[in-house]
Amino acid sequence: MADREILLGIDVGTTKVAAVAGERGEEVRLLAAASAPCRGLRRGVVVDLEETTEAVRRAVSEVQRSARVELGSAWVGLTGQHMTCVNSHAEVRLPRANREVTWSDVERVMAAAVSAVSIPPDRRMIHAISRGFMVDDEPRVRNPVGLTASRLAVDTHIVTIPRNTVENVAKAVEQAGLSVAELVAEPLAAADAVLTQEEEDLGVLLVDIGGGTTDIALFSEGSIAFSGAVPVAGNLITHDLAVALGVTHPQAEEIKLAHGCARAAAVPEEEFVSVPSAEGEDTVNRRFLAEVIEARVEEMFRLAAQKLRAGGGPGPPPGGVVLTGGGSLLPEIAKVAEEVFSCRARLGRVAAGALDAARNPAFATGVGLVYYAHREAETRRADRGRQIRVLPILGRVVAWVKELFRS
Ligand SMILES: Nc1ncnc2c1ncn2[C@@H]1O[C@H](COP(=O)(O)OP(=O)(O)OP(=O)(O)O)[C@@H](O)[C@H]1O
Ligand SMILES: [Mg+2]
Repeated sequence: MADREILLGIDVGTTKVAAVAGERGEEVRLLAAASAPCRGLRRGVVVDLEETTEAVRRAVSEVQRSARVELGSAWVGLTGQHMTCVNSHAEVRLPRANREVTWSDVERVMAAAVSAVSIPPDRRMIHAISRGFMVDDEPRVRNPVGLTASRLAVDTHIVTIPRNTVENVAKAVEQAGLSVAELVAEPLAAADAVLTQEEEDLGVLLVDIGGGTTDIALFSEGSIAFSGAVPVAGNLITHDLAVALGVTHPQAEEIKLAHGCARAAAVPEEEFVSVPSAEGEDTVNRRFLAEVIEARVEEMFRLAAQKLRAGGGPGPPPGGVVLTGGGSLLPEIAKVAEEVFSCRARLGRVAAGALDAARNPAFATGVGLVYYAHREAETRRADRGRQIRVLPILGRVVAWVKELFRS
């Protein structure tokens, strides 16, 4: 079976490492998914390399066992509160007027857009994605190659991450015995697993509520317009409960999973639940739990909305908000999102094919990484030795420019 092409996605999260394997065919077929708890990260940043490496090793070997495949290289997700994005515009004149645009023109204009932003030496660019080309005066052209024109311009979305964050996540993956095929911004990967093309065309906000960070990605007119992360997510909700109830973090986590609700108004006033306490067991009002949770969930969405506005994002996206990540499993959370963002919100279901294990929204990023890898492999045309690579990807994104890994 030497010609089987296996794609591996690794999501190094704050609470767990998730590994997902898929097989390339005409479509991608998911084979296995596994996760291993990991406490080696804090808000997307590696703070314990050994623990992280071990979690990667465990998740990957479980996937390897259940899919019965050998795994060598991986598409690895990156996030963290210091992930930032900037949109950049560039224009080039075509050397001879009125001739056909070629791939090398596309590369040239993308390179110009990249060099128009100054990226500090301590940061790494992980994506420069075309948001649309302008051919002469015609805007929003998805793929300009082959069109006759005199001028070519592009709008790009550039994502950067601190160099050390990139290095440390890559190190954990490599020390676990794998090589890094590509690094992918996690919200972009998660988008591949839960958003529909119609939503992206209409304009939609993806919110991935993890343990350490809540990642956001705004799509408009079919392409990415803003991405970022806020440092408020599930762990902080658990922390609040631990403080409010005077219990340990693991006890508070258990209580949250069993009885948590994101909206106090949805809980009957007189509902009581028993929770662990220093004395053994205690009874608390479930609405009180919901009040504690709601306050933090609201703050989390407000910060995300603020970040979006600061990034020049428009008002509420017409396609609404889509929630994913483990934190989105809190009952009533979509309702709170609707109130804060003033638009409709739905829970993102993971397009996991027949693989039930991956349907949990905590696997959205891992599954998305495999879809992303598949799409990229489908359209790979540029040679790997190039400084700037342009990949025509039909559908959402037309072209990508990437800094070579560890260049
Ligand atoms: N049923 C549930 N109800 C409420 N919260 C849940 C539920 N299941 C998981 N969570 C929360 O989801 C969070 C973990 O989500 P996820 O696995 O997506 O995070 P991660 O990818 O490890 O972290 P990050 O994306 O921040 O790096 C935890 O805070 C956990 O408490
Ligand atoms: Mg995550």
